[in-house]
Amino acid sequence: AGLLPFEHEPYFNYTDPQVAQAQRDAFLQVRRNYVGKTFPLFIGGQKVEASDTFDVLNPADTQEVLWRFPNASAEQRDQAIRSAKTAFEDWRFSDPMQRASLLKRAAQLLRERRMEFVAVMSLENGKNWAEADGEVAESVDHFEVFARETLKWAQGKPVYPMPDEHVTTMYEPLGVVACISPWNFPSAIPLGMALGAIAAGNTVIWKPAGDTPLSSWLMVELLLQAGLPAGVIQFLTGQDDILGDPLVDHPDIRMIAFTGSKEIGCRIYERAAKVHPGQKWLKRVIAEMGGKDPTVVCADTDLDVAARDIVASAFGYAGQKCSACSRVIAEDSVYDELLEKVVDLTRGLKVGLPEDNAPLGPVIHEDSAGRVMKYIEAGKNSARLMCGGERAEVPGKSGGYIQPTIFADVESTDPLFQEEIFGPVLSFSRARDWRHAIDLANDSEYGLTAAFYSRDPAKISEARRLMHFGNLYINRKCTGALSGTHAFGGYGMSGTNAKVGGPDYLFWFMQTKTTAQKY
Ligand code: NAD
Ligand code: ALA
Repeated sequence: AGLLPFEHEPYFNYTDPQVAQAQRDAFLQVRRNYVGKTFPLFIGGQKVEASDTFDVLNPADTQEVLWRFPNASAEQRDQAIRSAKTAFEDWRFSDPMQRASLLKRAAQLLRERRMEFVAVMSLENGKNWAEADGEVAESVDHFEVFARETLKWAQGKPVYPMPDEHVTTMYEPLGVVACISPWNFPSAIPLGMALGAIAAGNTVIWKPAGDTPLSSWLMVELLLQAGLPAGVIQFLTGQDDILGDPLVDHPDIRMIAFTGSKEIGCRIYERAAKVHPGQKWLKRVIAEMGGKDPTVVCADTDLDVAARDIVASAFGYAGQKCSACSRVIAEDSVYDELLEKVVDLTRGLKVGLPEDNAPLGPVIHEDSAGRVMKYIEAGKNSARLMCGGERAEVPGKSGGYIQPTIFADVESTDPLFQEEIFGPVLSFSRARDWRHAIDLANDSEYGLTAAFYSRDPAKISEARRLMHFGNLYINRKCTGALSGTHAFGGYGMSGTNAKVGGPDYLFWFMQTKTTAQKY
């Protein structure tokens, strides 16, 4: 089908002055073309306005309004669901080759506009260039991976034969899928969920996070440009009282694909269990939620490598990744040395503007900064503050800037150890030995990502067997899953383990038809 071979999209090399200049130019172009604009909803193949809009702020300087998006009304929400339901009647029978081809086209279109997408994301959610580029490159990978997965699943699966029956197992789509996403990965995460839905032949209500709608809307436009038929995706922005519970409860929604906090994921899971009047199915829910991700360091490892990776995974994007390392658990004999190395590297991280590609930018908004600072203040009483611990200043800018903060000697009962903080805060805990370190790592309701550092094959083998995480990384950092290779999703309260980018992801968006024919 001309689809193979597959290669992950390479990242930009921003140390090349020409590449860096091109990225700076892209920021200027985005500022010229988009700042101050009001963007539409997208319902039934039409761009639609609303009587009311909300402002999207630059987290690096919250006095700057970047652009505006509509607050969809209840009628517009219901109209969008009706449009998706109507479009499903055609799209469900669309040719898988057509679906795969349009995803391939979208991948190519995105390659041509990567720097623009990086600039929009950086302005909207405060990622620096490399972090935003990582996500946009992941989005290209998603298009390529889902194109291949579309064709793979369209073939059905073989069954054990019977002499007098022809039996097939085929996979069919479900219906209208609501895709609800967070702000921290505003392009790759909603895209992954939406592509799961449309690749399998479903139609979509795409509900992005309110902080980051343009990074999402540009992806929808790209899909339309690649040839996605009208009605297959509806794009709704607005307030949670219109687009939260009522969307989840609607009887015509067949499935909810959610990524976000544990609190909202659990709420959706519960609400979707209720069968509403007129509803003809049990709703399916996938909910990918938070993490409290540990890095375990054994005494026999290269401490410099471990320290470098810990700093990258704890403070990349100011720790605002579900996959971020937030707990280091080190064997007693190397604990102090590792701690010193990590603190030294962390002190070198400069806080500044994402648009200038600073290593550490702001957290997403002031509420978030306030929440993170509460953990930090409490930590000053319960653990040993090694660095940071205060708000940071960027001259002339108002944003949620926080110094990268490390606490040592954190007890496993401490909220610093147990709760998802979602900011630049890292805790260190001492383990008696490597086996105790694994027990401490597992002492969490979450189970998303973990890293384990050792050179000893026997210890590695035990870690592989015992560590209770959906994504376990050995001798590498716990962030940076690649679509198609590191199927992503956690255990426990990290969610339903749907594993986006993995070989079984599409199965969540389909139902299985067995047909047995006698003659
Ligand atoms: P959030 O749960 O506050 O919001 C996520 C989405 O849910 C938003 O679009 C929001 O508008 C919507 N929402 C709010 N109330 C709703 C309701 N009642 N019904 C339906 N939808 C509702 O999460 P956030 O702050 O945007 O994102 C951060 C969280 O996401 C962190 O906990 C992080 O760990 C998690 N996350 C998980 C993964 C993963 O793959 N496991 C990836 C990224 C982020
Ligand atoms: N997929 C993202 C990562 O692996 C969250 O870091």
